[in-house]
Amino acid sequence: MSHDGKSIHLRDMSAFAIEGPLEWTDQDRAQIEQIRGRYPTSRAAIMPVLWHAQRKFGWLSFDVMRLVAETLGLHPSEVLEVASFYTMFKKEPTGRYLIQVCHTLSCALNGADRVVEYITQKLDIGEDGHSACGRFTLMRVECLAACGSAPMMQINDDFYELLTEAKLDQILDGLSNDKPLPLPRPEVDQWTYTPVS
Ligand code: FES
Repeated sequence: MSHDGKSIHLRDMSAFAIEGPLEWTDQDRAQIEQIRGRYPTSRAAIMPVLWHAQRKFGWLSFDVMRLVAETLGLHPSEVLEVASFYTMFKKEPTGRYLIQVCHTLSCALNGADRVVEYITQKLDIGEDGHSACGRFTLMRVECLAACGSAPMMQINDDFYELLTEAKLDQILDGLSNDKPLPLPRPEVDQWTYTPVS
């Protein structure tokens, strides 16, 4: 995926929003067959196939979960129990950009509440978690395992760390114009700890 000729690291999940009938293409079936072949049982392949479905359809409605179950030869409840356990699987539609702000201890101590408040005001996020423009969805999540660079958030598949209001402006203004930050992520260069040798 490219933007202005440069590689961008933030995937636009809306490109995979549900359009047309809920069915696999021949290419999907071939990919799912390949995924299935990497696991000893169909149950073990539920997560990667759900991930494939989420990429394709944008989120996991009950109909999508039923399709996954049929494809793997499982009961729909077996797929539902996996999808409902993991927050990475979306059980409802979101805006083009899903913003997940970590509010666990390290991020909480370093200003996660302020990050949420700032984003809420800047993007006019309603009580339902969606921005007025429909482009963004905001949610609080538990630890995303980047505690050393708190406060942090994940937008779609990518981390943004050591957040400040200036950095939030830069990130969100870019996304409002569909211009994500290019790789490499500048935040990574600002990590201050020294790995133990
Ligand atoms: S506490 Fe926020 S990433 Fe771990």
